[in-house]
Amino acid sequence: MTISSAPGKIILFGEHAVVYGRPALAVPVTQVHAEVEVTDASRAGIWIDAPDVNLHAELMRLPSDHPIAAAIHNLFFQFHISPFPNLEIRISSTIPVASGMGSGAAVTVALTRALASHLSCSMSDEEVNAFTYEIEKLHHGTPSGIDNTVVTYARPVYFVRDQPIETFSVGQPFTIVIADTGIPAPTRESVADVRKLFESDEKYWDNVFDEMGDISFAARHVIREGWLRMLGSLMDENHAYLQELTVSSPELDRLVEAARGAGALGAKLSGGGRGGNMIALVEPEMAETISAALKAAGAQNTIITQII
Ligand code: PMV
Repeated sequence: MTISSAPGKIILFGEHAVVYGRPALAVPVTQVHAEVEVTDASRAGIWIDAPDVNLHAELMRLPSDHPIAAAIHNLFFQFHISPFPNLEIRISSTIPVASGMGSGAAVTVALTRALASHLSCSMSDEEVNAFTYEIEKLHHGTPSGIDNTVVTYARPVYFVRDQPIETFSVGQPFTIVIADTGIPAPTRESVADVRKLFESDEKYWDNVFDEMGDISFAARHVIREGWLRMLGSLMDENHAYLQELTVSSPELDRLVEAARGAGALGAKLSGGGRGGNMIALVEPEMAETISAALKAAGAQNTIITQII
């Protein structure tokens, strides 16, 4: 039996602007993860069991563009695996789906590594990352690649599209409360709407993306130095730009306001927006209070995580 797991992630700064080549910062969230177990099957076929998404099927019965089926087919193709072996593949995940926490990328990374290792195919992190990016396109259409990168390397990443990966260091650990609106984030749709907005006035929105990129750039420095109050202000500024891009929502804004009102140092939506998660930077001793305030303001779930 071969087991592999991959963490969830949150985007700290730069979502949407990252699609337009500006930098973004993302970090792994190890409190949640996807896990894949591959064993040789005693029956013919490749059997996939993913109870969290109510999927119990033989590979050949899945549509070929289903991300799980596509990952298995692509891997077999890449490594010239023929005939297909008989396998049982069990997929489980504690990462909320469509919430901006990278659940799709984490399942693909864990599945790719578990399968490759079970079949004695060697894959570097770089190869796993590139492989997962191709599958991410089935989930999101035109992803920037930030999700697969942070999930593959499981390290804080300063991400610029089509640039070599760059990790960043954290001067002083800080605490983030993640709160889920419980509304699925329609990332494909919000990315497409931002594209329309951009095309309506490229000069204006290019400037906005520049400002957002400058925030990510400044945030990397501020995180290295451990200047938490300044980091909180940068989060607030970033959220205002995301509102202007029309990717916030009344539910996200309510949670952002609740976090600030309860004493957070800063707060913003995280990921594609219009649903999914928001994040708040908090003093460690305030984390429980702010988490309770977020639940009272309608959060379906909260996670307290330390960024180290
Ligand atoms: O919703 P998430 O966290 O999977 O990511 C969306 C991030 C965007 O910048 C909006 C899109 C992208 O591909 O980077």
